[in-house]
Amino acid sequence: MKNSKRIFLIISLLTFAKFLPAQNNIVTLQPGKAQTIISKHLYGHFAEHLGHCIYEGIWVGENSAIPNVRGIRTDVVNALREMGIPNLRWPGGCFADEYHWKNGIGPKDKRPTMINTNWGEVTEDNSFGTNEFLDLCEQLGCEPVITGNVGSGTVEEMSQWVEYINSDNISPMTDLRKASGREKAWKVKFWGIGNESWGCGGAMSPEFYFDQMMRYSNFTRDYGDSKLFRVAVGPNVDDYNWTETIMRLWSKKSWWEQRLMNGLSLHYYTLCHGWGDKGSATVFTEKDWFSTLKNTCRIDELINKHLAIMDKYDPEHRVGLVVDEWGNWFDVEPGTNPGFLFQQNTLRDAIVSGINLNTFNNHADRIAMANIAQMVNVLQSMILTKKEQMVLTPTYYVFKMYKVHQGATQIPVAVTCRDYKVDGESIPSINVSASKDASGKIHITLVNLDPNTENPVTINLGLNQNVSVTGEVITSKNMNDYNDFGKAPVVTTVKFDKFKFGNGQLNVTMPSKSVVCLEITSK
Ligand code: AHR
Repeated sequence: MKNSKRIFLIISLLTFAKFLPAQNNIVTLQPGKAQTIISKHLYGHFAEHLGHCIYEGIWVGENSAIPNVRGIRTDVVNALREMGIPNLRWPGGCFADEYHWKNGIGPKDKRPTMINTNWGEVTEDNSFGTNEFLDLCEQLGCEPVITGNVGSGTVEEMSQWVEYINSDNISPMTDLRKASGREKAWKVKFWGIGNESWGCGGAMSPEFYFDQMMRYSNFTRDYGDSKLFRVAVGPNVDDYNWTETIMRLWSKKSWWEQRLMNGLSLHYYTLCHGWGDKGSATVFTEKDWFSTLKNTCRIDELINKHLAIMDKYDPEHRVGLVVDEWGNWFDVEPGTNPGFLFQQNTLRDAIVSGINLNTFNNHADRIAMANIAQMVNVLQSMILTKKEQMVLTPTYYVFKMYKVHQGATQIPVAVTCRDYKVDGESIPSINVSASKDASGKIHITLVNLDPNTENPVTINLGLNQNVSVTGEVITSKNMNDYNDFGKAPVVTTVKFDKFKFGNGQLNVTMPSKSVVCLEITSK
């Protein structure tokens, strides 16, 4: 073919392609295959002694002018209760492996101080300790998750912590608890055996950590009827060797010893470009948007690969995956303490949380728990506080929207969709999960990752009967819109009605850069 003819052909094809319909986005629900309960614990949170998470964000002290109940902020507790908080992990993080719990009990003026070496070298006065944390959990109506100190503590110290909290017997530890004003044991089920022991938790090899973990786990006792769920330190991101080693060593133990490890943690933070270029939380380009979303979508691959290793050594699924640190990690806000990890939270954070929560729902058969980092004023927070003011972030609104999935039965979904492309790279433009609640209502949560284009989605519900549909959406004009102190929220939940139902199909027009929740009720 002559060159001129070839060029003509290419131009004609390109012109014609413009009039072809874009690849359809099709979501197919399989309600007949619904069997896995989505544990409410996939919607868990994390509060560390870091920056203004605990102090100011949660704890203001009994004498504060900010309304509080026994020193704990009322506004924050009410907002979190409304959002639906199933559990709270504490006291760290890296802080956990330097924390000595006995310094945080008894009269406040007698509690020793310590230096928080991980986070800004500030003086920790231990005014928020075990009793205050467990009071917080009771006010929130959530389950506590406590991480023990394996890095710089002792087996005896951790063993006594469990005894102080969980035993109803007569003993020096339970006397100590009673003297602090708490008669009855709290019965805390979830215990982390150290944190990031491959790094800030002690720079250990997996072999060394495994032996330590078994020792610590062994002496964290099941008092009375309280059976502990012990979470071992798992891999950082794609450290498959860590998972392989821990699981191989675990598989060689007797059935009886294997009960000492019920969960294996995974930590994965979403970075904009990498640790050297985390980028601003609020000032970013479409390229940054794309790369953040591409990086967050990697959670699915990480979960699949770690689970494949776990399943090889644990075909009976006795050990669950616990994604106990996840979320966006950007540069701190200009002018704030670099050790405090304070970042704003935009529509991009809403999209990231929607994608991760959908991914956890879709892996509900093997994920036992997940905890976003962190609850207030640190990293990808639900809430930001400034003195008596409080801001609910876009991430908060996604968690609140998705609470319908907690305890519901997961409905498997099959998705084919067009790609969202930037600079020759592509990611799926639509991300979905679905569930059926106890009353029979179906909830479908969808994310449109594309910041520029509306996305028409056809949903095959797999139902024969007629239905009624309602919807909610979180979106905004700009990718980097956020909610700020003293202003009405910009990124929040509003009613959504861009859908039509007919012949078992729901045709939805997803606004660009949005998170949508549809509620389907059979008539
Ligand atoms: O969430 C902040 C820190 O990130 C935690 O303390 C640590 O576990 C992780 O490296």
